[in-house]
Amino acid sequence: MRKNIVAGNWKMNNNAEETQQLINNLKIAIEGLNTEARVIIAPTFVNLSLAQNAVNNSIIEVSAQNMHQAKNGAFTGEISGSMLTSIGIKTVILGHSERRTYFGEDDAMLTEKVKAALENDLEIVFCFGELLEDRKSDNHFNVVESQLKNVLFDLTATEWKNIVLAYEPVWAIGTGETASPEQAQEMHAFIRSLIADKYGAELANDVSILYGGSVKPNNAEEIFSKEDVDGGLIGGASLKAEDFTAIIKAI
Ligand code: 13P
Repeated sequence: MRKNIVAGNWKMNNNAEETQQLINNLKIAIEGLNTEARVIIAPTFVNLSLAQNAVNNSIIEVSAQNMHQAKNGAFTGEISGSMLTSIGIKTVILGHSERRTYFGEDDAMLTEKVKAALENDLEIVFCFGELLEDRKSDNHFNVVESQLKNVLFDLTATEWKNIVLAYEPVWAIGTGETASPEQAQEMHAFIRSLIADKYGAELANDVSILYGGSVKPNNAEEIFSKEDVDGGLIGGASLKAEDFTAIIKAI
C-alpha cells in the first residue's frame, strides 16, 4: 500500500544555525503527533550531516535536493550518489523544475541521474510538471506524459519501488497560485493510469504521488483529501515549523 508523505524542499535557504533551529522547532512541534505519514526535509548539501544528527530520535527523514550522475571525477562543485549514501542519506529529489530551468537538466540527463541514484540504492522523489503555456494550450497531459515516459518508463517494476512522484505544475511553484484540488486529482489519476497501463494496477496503486506548488496550511487539507494525492512537496511553507506542522496534520 502506498504511503502518505509530506516533504519539505528547503531549496537554497537556511544556514547551519538556521537549519539546526528549524529542525529543533519542528521536532517540538511534531512531538506526540500521531501521523502515519512519512515526514521528509531536504536541506542544502552543506547542512545534510548536521540535519542527519539533528533529526535524531524523531520521525523526520533527511533528503538531498539533487545529485550528479557520475560516480566521481572531474566535476567541480558536484556531489555524487555514493557521497550522499556515505553520510546516511537515503532519498534524493531529482528533476525539480528549478534544476530543469536554471541548470539545464533535461530528460536525457535526468535518465542518467535516476540510474545513478538507483545504483546507489537511493529513493528518488522525481519532480515534473507543465509550464503555464502548456496548460493554457491544453498540452499539459502530453507534457507530463513525455516527462514521465522519457525518464522512468524503462525502469523495472523492482526499481519503481524506489520511486516517489511529485507533480509540480511550474505555474504554481512559489507563485501563491495552487492547482485546484480537482486539477491535482485529475492529473494524479492520469499519471496513475499511465503507470497502470505500463506496469499494471498493483504497482500503480503502490506509487506515492505528491502534489507540489504553493501548498499552505489553509489549502493542504483539501488537496490531500483527493484520492490520488498522497501528500505534498512543500517549498516556502516548509521553512516555518508551524506551517509545515499544520500541513503534516492536514494529511
Ligand atoms: P512552493 O511551495 O514554495 O510553491 O514550492 C514548491 C516546490 O517547488 C517544492 O519543491
